[in-house]
Amino acid sequence: MKKLIIINGPNLNLLGKREPNIYGNLSFTDFFEVIKEKYPAVSLEYYQSNVEGELINKLQEVGFSYDGIILNAAAYTHTSVGIGDAVKAIETPVVEVHISNTFAREEFRHQSFISPNAKGIILGFGLQSYELAILSLL
Ligand code: DQA
Repeated sequence: MKKLIIINGPNLNLLGKREPNIYGNLSFTDFFEVIKEKYPAVSLEYYQSNVEGELINKLQEVGFSYDGIILNAAAYTHTSVGIGDAVKAIETPVVEVHISNTFAREEFRHQSFISPNAKGIILGFGLQSYELAILSLL
């Protein structure tokens, strides 16, 4: 059984409430329940933190034993050398995910410290971006 984890960064705990015109009406925990039922043959975990160092700790913790990491580092994508370095340091493939099409938004969202070391990038498909990332790791 493949062992995958979804790691979400800051403010993604507010999905469903936060800017629903951009991020939709569904909470991530509700979405996660649906997706877990849909892929019973996958061991799927979920971790969220608003704290940069905690995200780095989690990447280090899972990054040498899991089969895949689906990472939406949210705003830290565009600012965090530390998270970028962690993605580079670990062995588990990381798929970078964004709910919105960051290239259709402000210019500061066009830069990513994760992309250079990601296995691939999926963005702009709403919460479905996460499902596409799971499929890419199976
Ligand atoms: C996001 C895009 C980021 O620019 C933003 O800071 C987020 C969410 C997305 O999933 O579309 O918080 O990563």
